[in-house]
Amino acid sequence: MDYNKAFEAIVEQQLARVERMKSDTDFIRYQDLDQIIIGVIGGDGIGPAITAQARRVLEQLLADEIKAGKVVFKTIDGCTIENRAAAGKAIPDDVLAEIKTCNVLLKGPTTTPRKGDKWANVESANVAMRKELDLFANVRPVKVPELGIDWTFFRENTECLYAMGSQGLNISDDLAIDFRVITTPGTERIARLAFEYAKNNNKKRVTIVTKANVVKTTDGKFLDVCKQVAGDYPDIEVDDWYIDIMTAKLIDEKRRGQFEVLILPNLYGDILTDEAAEFQGGVGTAGSANLGKQYSMFEAIHGSAPRMVEEGRDIYADPCSVIRAGAMLLSHIGYQEKADRLFTALEECTIKERKLVITGRPDGATGAEFADYILSKI
Ligand code: IPM
Ligand code: MG
Repeated sequence: MDYNKAFEAIVEQQLARVERMKSDTDFIRYQDLDQIIIGVIGGDGIGPAITAQARRVLEQLLADEIKAGKVVFKTIDGCTIENRAAAGKAIPDDVLAEIKTCNVLLKGPTTTPRKGDKWANVESANVAMRKELDLFANVRPVKVPELGIDWTFFRENTECLYAMGSQGLNISDDLAIDFRVITTPGTERIARLAFEYAKNNNKKRVTIVTKANVVKTTDGKFLDVCKQVAGDYPDIEVDDWYIDIMTAKLIDEKRRGQFEVLILPNLYGDILTDEAAEFQGGVGTAGSANLGKQYSMFEAIHGSAPRMVEEGRDIYADPCSVIRAGAMLLSHIGYQEKADRLFTALEECTIKERKLVITGRPDGATGAEFADYILSKI
């Protein structure tokens, strides 16, 4: 293989991406649109079952807007692992075209093939969608009031080891090389979003997480650019931590309450947000917002649980993570009051009252029963 050429192509591709980011427009203002199209992507495994319940809840909350034609729901079929493997693409072209006709998306989990399993080793649909729609900010809140935890993670969502995760080079039988990408505009935009969030939500501290002592070039840039952006927010305290000690400090009872808003490159953000979600009951309970300037996508952060489907238990799958993602969606497109009602109902049903419990098996409630329970509290 001519790896000089391969490397040249990678550099060209990333330089072009940098130029696109530089000429990027402002964030879409959903409330200014005549019509907001919400695309619902069921995905794989338990995905269709749980997103159907989340959609039902959202449709009820938005009933007036739907009647008035202000909001439309659209089903996006075909983003399944079978179709993706057959097309040899992370997202088949026709599915991607459909997705792009929507303004905002609610997505169930999609199976990510891994080396050696029965599927063609295509790129993760999550990662591809984030790249295609330029969903650069992965915002993951974790709240556990009784532990004094109120964290909001701003995970950069398009760069780091993910930018070229499927384009590494096997130079020889013995040598494999992957590429890690950090750019100035890519870091600027995630940092700006995090600091704006902190400013608008009365947060006192923003924490930057890297491994810049070792990964000097890319993490060094990430840290520098974040600090530069911090200069525009003199009232917000800024600290920076290395990812290893940060991972430890999240379980340090004396320390963890001090963290509020955290900014991280993609892979550290992936790992730390799973750890963080565990305090709140695990990844199964967490929702996540993938925000870009033109599109946004809201999803559960857990997997597709194919075994539950094989054993006929998908009707018992817990829809709360996608419903929570739906609440984040409502807030993002400007329906804050409806979002608050849904967040409150979720808290009531999953923590305070717990009249129904989901176990994933016939001894627990079905997803539909649980969605009815949530709707009864709205
Ligand atoms: C997540 C997931 C994805 C990621 C996987 C499914 C590709 O772990 O959303 O955190 O690594 O980003
Ligand atoms: Mg993850």
